[in-house]
Amino acid sequence: MGHVLVTGAAGFIGSHTVDRLLAAGHSVIGVDNFRTGHRVNLAGAFQSARFAFHELDVTASDRLATLFAATKPDAVVHLAALVSVQESLTNPDLNFALNVHATHLVAEAARAHGVRRIVFASSAAIYGNATDLPIRESAEKNPISPYGAAKLASEELLLGYGAAFGLTVRCQRYFNVFGPRQDPASPYSGVISIFARRYRDGTGVTIYGDGQQTRDFISVHDVARANVLATTSPEIGCGAANICSGRATSLLDVAGVFARHYPAIEAPSHGPPRAGDIVHSLGSPELAAAALGFRAEVAVESGLDELINSA
Ligand code: UD1
Repeated sequence: MGHVLVTGAAGFIGSHTVDRLLAAGHSVIGVDNFRTGHRVNLAGAFQSARFAFHELDVTASDRLATLFAATKPDAVVHLAALVSVQESLTNPDLNFALNVHATHLVAEAARAHGVRRIVFASSAAIYGNATDLPIRESAEKNPISPYGAAKLASEELLLGYGAAFGLTVRCQRYFNVFGPRQDPASPYSGVISIFARRYRDGTGVTIYGDGQQTRDFISVHDVARANVLATTSPEIGCGAANICSGRATSLLDVAGVFARHYPAIEAPSHGPPRAGDIVHSLGSPELAAAALGFRAEVAVESGLDELINSA
């Protein structure tokens, strides 16, 4: 079994990835600075003797290198990031530090300490406002935020490392991920996390626009499984793949599931469309199926049922 270092381990996707790696029998070194992650997300992981945790900022390059030297991981799953597109617009310096420079530091530590594989949290944001749907990996990359640009730059950096130094690099282009532990704190948090909090609190939700806009929502359980496949599958080449469901779900459909669970709560109100919003986003899941043997299995409706019942 492998020895895997996960950065951003206490985050939404990180903690689910840690849980799944442990369940598969691997040993895991979790790293997080709790900037946006939460210790409580690792409550299950802390029960395992195969889990070790280090509170560490990945931009602290000396401490990062020391940790790699001490723990000698086989693979790194690099999920630590500035996760908010909005924050990348208000603080581009921090976006560069956390979403570009940190990637370089992780890649360098990996190279220096003989890590065989790096799995990286990329994003559909690298495609920008693509209109030719479903979006294939070969589509033009037109990031429209510092966040999207940083994710694209990090992909290129890592793939160059892979080619030059013989590491296997997998870039995971996540679409709209949802599920338990997603933080609804900001108005720019994922819409499903916002709806879940507001329905639970008994306050109504607002749909920006007519609700016919669609997204490729994917359960965090599927995303964690895709990360484990990318980390542990033998005989896998370097590359980037969409991690998506390949299915379009409208916001009205999402709201409809919540309405069934909460019949007493007022119907959503509608506000003006959000500035800069795209109407439709949909990924092609075919490359991930071919390269990783990954296909999403959790239907949006059952993922929403689980989320609502766990609240
Ligand atoms: C993603 C980013 C967002 C960024 C945008 C740029 C995430 C979680 N969001 O948005 O920060 O600005 O790309 O294209 O990564 N909605 C509502 N009501 C709400 C919240 C959202 O109707 O209370 C709508 C939005 O207007 C949007 C849809 O829900 O049409 C999905 O929103 P969101 O979850 O933020 O995802 P993206 O639009 O993909």
